[in-house]
Amino acid sequence: MKPVLISGIQPTGRLHLGNYLGALKNFVELQNSGKYQCYFFIADLHALTENPEAKDLRANILNLAADFITAGLDPKKSVIFQQSQIQSLQELKWVFSTLIPPGELLRMTAFKEKVLQALKPEEREKITKEQYDEIVANTNYGLVEYPVLMAADILIYNGQFVPVGHDQLQHLELARTLARKFNKKFGKTFVEPQALLTKTPRVMSLNDPTKKMSKSQPEGCLFLNDSPKDIEIKIKRAVTDSDSEIKYDPENKAGISNLLEIYSALSDLSGPKKSITELEKQYQGKGYGQFKADLADVAIKALAPFRGLKTSDLKLKNLLSTGSKKAGKIASAKMKEVKKKIGFILPATQ
Ligand code: ADP
Ligand code: TRP
Repeated sequence: MKPVLISGIQPTGRLHLGNYLGALKNFVELQNSGKYQCYFFIADLHALTENPEAKDLRANILNLAADFITAGLDPKKSVIFQQSQIQSLQELKWVFSTLIPPGELLRMTAFKEKVLQALKPEEREKITKEQYDEIVANTNYGLVEYPVLMAADILIYNGQFVPVGHDQLQHLELARTLARKFNKKFGKTFVEPQALLTKTPRVMSLNDPTKKMSKSQPEGCLFLNDSPKDIEIKIKRAVTDSDSEIKYDPENKAGISNLLEIYSALSDLSGPKKSITELEKQYQGKGYGQFKADLADVAIKALAPFRGLKTSDLKLKNLLSTGSKKAGKIASAKMKEVKKKIGFILPATQ
């Protein structure tokens, strides 16, 4: 049996280059390698932590499914599904929540960032412990439980490999901890999953290369369906340092290093793959202007499919429904095993 590979993306808006180069492009390559049983899902339960309107959530689910297909995910090769349709997930999440103290969840980096998201950077720096505790006490509880649900997402399918960006590593560590704790208490049931990172696990913001590209800061994002004109403008304006040498040096030249990574990672979609070293050579003695113009060209070509015709909503709905049925069967079989181990299934009486 091939090992199980699983990942999900939240339907919380348009995908950006960080989502693509840190996750989605890799999903497609891993699927096409033929080495794994692949599961890819739309993490709509997780998206609920952002309190979306129902009509927006519906639209975002369909848009993300369309992006999955446009990127090259194929329902004939992978199980593509909607997380909220998997009932057993809720049962496993509950079981896991009894194995983990809340303190561990409250210490998660992603949780702290989400909680402070609404504050300005200068407000964040000045915040006292009492003020922080007050904000946490009033936040939605789903944000606390977020990584427990994510662990259930992975372990319920015996997921062994999880392609994600760098920001998800801590969550994955929690999934490993939960697998270990459960196995220790109830006997070997879960495999400890492993993250698979791409060469670009942390794409940085175009207007602040010290921060990761994130949809909470849309000014620094290149969205997959941006128009060619917008792509050109955004890359032209991308922050670089004051000298003009095209050299990979993330510490001292964060801006141009980020653009070199993006260029290399996108190059194979419109021509032969170019390594960062090859790009450095190609642009030796040339200025940022030429480099940025060429990068814009590469990005416009690479992202063309995302600006094209979308798969019809009906097709997407059917495809998700078929995938969710398949995933649901696997999940409910695993949950049966879990219930037996825990002691929920009573022995037959005479
Ligand atoms: P966001 O961080 O924009 O809210 P998500 O949390 O929905 O995006 O992330 C979906 C996937 O994209 C995850 O695997 C995540 O690790 C990856 N990802 C998000 N931002 C980046 C980034 N800047 N660089 C690399 N990968 C990223
Ligand atoms: N938390 C992930 C993100 O923000 C999405 C996600 C939910 C996920 N469940 C998962 C990713 C399971 C990998 C495996 O991107």
